[in-house]
Amino acid sequence: MLTDGNGMMVLDKLSTQQVGQVRALAGSCEAGDGYSLEARLDFGTLETRPEGSVSDVLWYENGQLAGFAGLNSYSDPSEVEISILVHPDFRRRGMGHALARAVVSACQKRGVRQLLLVVPQESREGAAFARAMGTRHSHSEYTMDLDATRIPLFETMPDPVELRPAGAEDVPVMAAIVASAFAGPVEEEEQALVRLMKDLTRTTYLAARDGRPVGVIQSAVSDGRAFIVHFAVRPEMQGQGIGQQMLMAIVRGLLNSGSKWITIEVETDNRNALSLYQRCGFTTVNATDYELLELPRIPTAPELLFGC
Ligand SMILES: CC(C)(COP(=O)(O)OP(=O)(O)OC[C@H]1O[C@@H](n2cnc3c(N)ncnc32)[C@H](O)[C@@H]1OP(=O)(O)O)[C@@H](O)C(=O)NCCC(=O)NCCS
Repeated sequence: MLTDGNGMMVLDKLSTQQVGQVRALAGSCEAGDGYSLEARLDFGTLETRPEGSVSDVLWYENGQLAGFAGLNSYSDPSEVEISILVHPDFRRRGMGHALARAVVSACQKRGVRQLLLVVPQESREGAAFARAMGTRHSHSEYTMDLDATRIPLFETMPDPVELRPAGAEDVPVMAAIVASAFAGPVEEEEQALVRLMKDLTRTTYLAARDGRPVGVIQSAVSDGRAFIVHFAVRPEMQGQGIGQQMLMAIVRGLLNSGSKWITIEVETDNRNALSLYQRCGFTTVNATDYELLELPRIPTAPELLFGC
C-alpha cells in the first residue's frame, strides 16, 4: 500500500478515480508519442470486468500515476494480454521493467501460462523493450474502424441468415462452431463462452440459415465504443456470404442503438477476414504486435526470467 504517494500497487479492480488517472496517463503518452492508445487499452473493461479475473499494476511518483500495466484475459484464462505505459517524463529509469516483473509474479500466482505483450507498431521503444523482456513474436493484428460512409448497400439474399441473441442453451452448439473455425479444443471454448456471456457489456448472437446454426458473433460495447469479437462461421459453410450477412446485421444493430465507433481486430495474415471487413466498410487504423512470454509452471523469481 502507498504511504507517501510513491511506489507500486497491484490491484484486482480499479476505482473510477484510478481509471481516470489511467486515462490521463494514456493522454500524456498519446501527446508525447503521437498515436492513439484508446482501442488498445480497452478502457471500457477496466471497471467492469469480473472481480478476481486479472490484476493491474500502478506506479505512482509523488501522487501522480507515472506507470501502468493493464491486464486483460479474454477466452482463455491461462493467457493474459499486457499493455504497459510509462509517462514520457519517466522513461528509461527501469519503471517499465519493474511493472513487467510485478505482472509476472501476479500472473504466476493465478496460474497464467502465457503473457502477450501488446506492442503498438507506432511505438518507438516497444520492440526494444519487448526484446529486453525476452519475448518472441506471436502474431500481429490490424485494428479496423467502421467508416459508415463505406457500408455496402443492403442486398436481399436468396438464403438469408438470421441473427438472434444467444442463451445458455446455445453454448454447446456455439462452442462447436467456434472451436471448429479456430481449430481449438471445444471444452475450453464452452468454458470461455459461459464466462464471456456473464459479462454484461457483451451480447452473443447465434446465426442460423434454414434453421441450422451456422455462425457465432459477439459485440462488446463500453464507453461508447463497440468491438466486434468472437466471430466464426462453420468451416464447411465459409465462402458463401454468411459472414458478410452476419457482420452487416450486427453493424446495423449497433448503429441503430447509437454506437459511434465500431471496431474489429484481425490478424494481419488472415487475408479472407481482412478483405471481408474492407468490403463491409472497415478501414485499417493501426497495427499491433503481440509478443509472447511463456511462464514456467513452477513459479520462478521474475528476475530469473528477465536475466538480470
Ligand atoms: C515501452 C515502455 C513501456 C518502456 O518503459 P520504460 O520505463 O522506459 O522501460 P525501462 O526503463 O524499464 O527499460 C527496460 C529495457 O527496455 C529497453 N528499452 C526501453 N526503452 C528503450 C528505448 N527507447 N530504446 C532502446 N531500448 C529501450 C532497454 O533494454 C531497457 O533496459 P536499459 O534501460 O537497461 O537499456 C515505454 O517506453 C512506453 O510507455 N512506451 C509507450 C507505450 C508502449 O509502446 N508500450 C509497449 C510496451 S507494452
